[in-house]
Amino acid sequence: MFRILLLNGPNLGRLGKRQPAVYGTATLADVERAVRKRAKAWGAKIDALQSDIEGVLVSKIGGSDGVYDGIIFNPGAYTHTSIALRDALQSVQVPCVEVHLSNTAAREEFRRISHTAAASLGQIMGFGIFGYELALIALVNHLASGKKKAARR
Ligand code: DQA
Repeated sequence: MFRILLLNGPNLGRLGKRQPAVYGTATLADVERAVRKRAKAWGAKIDALQSDIEGVLVSKIGGSDGVYDGIIFNPGAYTHTSIALRDALQSVQVPCVEVHLSNTAAREEFRRISHTAAASLGQIMGFGIFGYELALIALVNHLASGKKKAARR
């Protein structure tokens, strides 16, 4: 059974109310329910955490070795600013798939940079909450194929 950490960063606890034209009307509870349901079918177990605080996210990632097999992570705005989150992801052996609800490449210039993507297996963005399920598919497929985390810079 794969142990997966579903991690969401700042302002994602306000999904459903927050800019619904951009992020949709589903809530974070809806996201967690959908991911848990799919995970169950695939024999994976989900732990979910949302935090608005960068250090909480850093510590959670830093403590993930031996606890989780993989991480699904939407770092929110910290994607574009946080070297600390990138370093945290690079400090552990646990592979991460980065998710964004919106297509950040089609938005403001400052959203085009992701510091965390370079420390992740890959990125899924632009598919709304379904992106989290796609990330789970990618992660379970990666874990099942027995691959080690790709070498990182
Ligand atoms: C987001 C995109 C980020 O640019 C933004 O700051 C968010 C949400 C997304 O899921 O589309 O908080 O990560």
